[in-house]
Amino acid sequence: MSDDVWTVGRLLTWTTEWLTGKGSEAPRLEAEVLLAHVRGCQRIALYTAFDTPVAEAERGRFRELVKRRGEGEPVAYLVGSREFFSLPFRVTPAVLVPRPETEGLVIRVLDLCRPQAGPRIVDVGTGSGAIAITLAKHLPKASITATDVSSAALAVARDNAARQGVAERIEFLECDLLDHPQAAGPWDVIVSNPPYVREDEFESLPRDVRLHEPKAALVSGPTGVEIIERLAALAAARLVPGGWLLCEIGPAAAAEAVLARQTGLTAEPTILDFAGLPRIVQARRR
Ligand SMILES: C[S@@+](CC[C@H](N)C(=O)[O-])C[C@H]1O[C@@H](n2cnc3c(N)ncnc32)[C@H](O)[C@@H]1O
Repeated sequence: MSDDVWTVGRLLTWTTEWLTGKGSEAPRLEAEVLLAHVRGCQRIALYTAFDTPVAEAERGRFRELVKRRGEGEPVAYLVGSREFFSLPFRVTPAVLVPRPETEGLVIRVLDLCRPQAGPRIVDVGTGSGAIAITLAKHLPKASITATDVSSAALAVARDNAARQGVAERIEFLECDLLDHPQAAGPWDVIVSNPPYVREDEFESLPRDVRLHEPKAALVSGPTGVEIIERLAALAAARLVPGGWLLCEIGPAAAAEAVLARQTGLTAEPTILDFAGLPRIVQARRR
């Protein structure tokens, strides 16, 4: 094969170098995900096609995506999906891209709920629906509700629920936290990955996140714990006695303090993520 033919292998090598120059932290992986998307194949299929020439039309579509990636658009938005808990989720710029750290929150809810007969669970701020839908898939007897203030996010979540065959299992509600007649509870578990970035932290977020992910999904307010504070007060009233509030957090101290001072709740030990960072604060209703 002559050097001037754009094969799969040559495109990947060139793009990896170009994305490295643009500051990408995973340039090879990103190049592969984008090329596989354009070719409509699995990433693994690229490995047996290194010497295959890529047609001009495909190269054009690939170039456009690579250019947008170079300008900071997250790969998940470019290809329209992201895997979470080994399930494919459709994502659009209306929803936060589900993060691997959030899988820990799902694991915690599964551990708590598997022994229960028919746990009632609400996912507050469902976004793409990643938490609620994964729980519905793994807890066939649970009754699950998911809320969000964003109607655009809820449309994505409903679509994901339908794709995963659990649309009938989840009640989606458009409201502020639990401010809906059907979200009154009582709940066995209130789970949430809420916005928890302080307003003054926003400018220091990575460019890709700051410019492309929905700000309302990230920023809570001046202290970063406004949403958790309101959720803790609701949990004290709407959980069954012994029921659990579980929230993903950024820095732990402020969120732990919120739960510790909430009348009616008993704070439980914070759970660390795989990197050893505090990631899930938890409390039970007395
Ligand atoms: C950090 S994202 C989490 C999305 C998803 N649960 C996940 O873990 O990938 C927070 C979500 O909360 C929603 N949200 C923000 N403020 C809210 C509020 N007051 N009530 C309900 N949802 C809210 C946002 O629209 C966004 O979808």
